[in-house]
Amino acid sequence: MTGRKVGIIGAGAVGATAAYSLSMMGTCHEIVLFDIVEGVAKGKAIDIGQSIHYSPIGTIVTAAETPADVKDCDIVVITAGVPRKGNMTREDLLMINAKIMKDVVNDIQKYSPNAVIICVSNPLDVMTYVIHKLTGWESNRIIGMAGALDGARMAYQIYQKLGYGAGQTGSLVMGDHGRNMIPLPQQVQVDSVSVAELLTSEEMEEIIERTKNGGAEIVKYLGTSGYYAPGRAIAHMVEAILNDSKTVVSSSAMLQGEYGYSDITVGVPVVLGSKGVEKILEIELNHEVEEKFRISVDSIRENINILKANKFFDKGKQ
Ligand code: NAI
Ligand code: 2OP
Repeated sequence: MTGRKVGIIGAGAVGATAAYSLSMMGTCHEIVLFDIVEGVAKGKAIDIGQSIHYSPIGTIVTAAETPADVKDCDIVVITAGVPRKGNMTREDLLMINAKIMKDVVNDIQKYSPNAVIICVSNPLDVMTYVIHKLTGWESNRIIGMAGALDGARMAYQIYQKLGYGAGQTGSLVMGDHGRNMIPLPQQVQVDSVSVAELLTSEEMEEIIERTKNGGAEIVKYLGTSGYYAPGRAIAHMVEAILNDSKTVVSSSAMLQGEYGYSDITVGVPVVLGSKGVEKILEIELNHEVEEKFRISVDSIRENINILKANKFFDKGKQ
């Protein structure tokens, strides 16, 4: 990975914030933004480009006029998608976003055939699965961003409870990026002290609930979903891959027998390095967590089955 070039498809709130975060850290040599809505990528690239005057390390930030301009990237981040509106059903939304993935993935295969893809678009685990199936690439090269964000939300809730240890708290959230996610505060530490030593089980339950509700809480205040923490979480993953730092980050990865499941993308702790997912870490789950994980996997499969029923994966359809 010598180019340190990152493409971001979808220059909306999350995509642009990821670009801003990356350019403030000086992680990449070049970032190229693309959005289907004319002018959006251009306007954001100019704005971020001007902010770089005060960044410690320069980054080239450009806007792609066409998907063909997002070429030779080491990493492509996909944040393109549409939110659920009006009387759209969950099924409608799934099909619309899956079709967006199809267009986007076609272009990535053509113009950045050696990239690692980080999927951010929702429903996260399902869209990550769609990208695996559409590309047929080695499974290490396609990663869903969710645990990085949900873990940061859990660490924030632990800090809110304790009143100390900001930035010192580990994170572990497994399962889907949705109502069945599994925050595991009892598994993490503040510096080297186990959270289980510091909080009661009632406090831990509250942290779990507030973490699961983390996205919705922001929507309640802003009327739209968050983008600072998602943008920074994406940047954290990009850094790990470009720097080949072998960092452990919970991510949606394709299981091939791990945890007893295959052909499913779901949040598990993984090692991120230059090849993308370099290892899936199989940690011991107790019976209760095992059951929660099963429910989570089932909920993702339910959505994949909707796509299958609509013949999304059939060659020549859609
Ligand atoms: P947004 O609406 O601000 O941005 C989405 C952008 O995608 C828009 O600018 C739109 O024009 C663009 N777009 C749509 N179709 C496109 C295509 N075919 N090619 C290129 N660009 C296209 O939305 P926001 O807040 O940035 O969220 C983006 C996605 O990320 C959503 O699906 C959201 O649910 C998801 N998300 C996921 C998180 C996670 O943890 N995985 C966290 C936060 C958001
Ligand atoms: C979030 O968790 C909407 O997935 C997005 O904020």
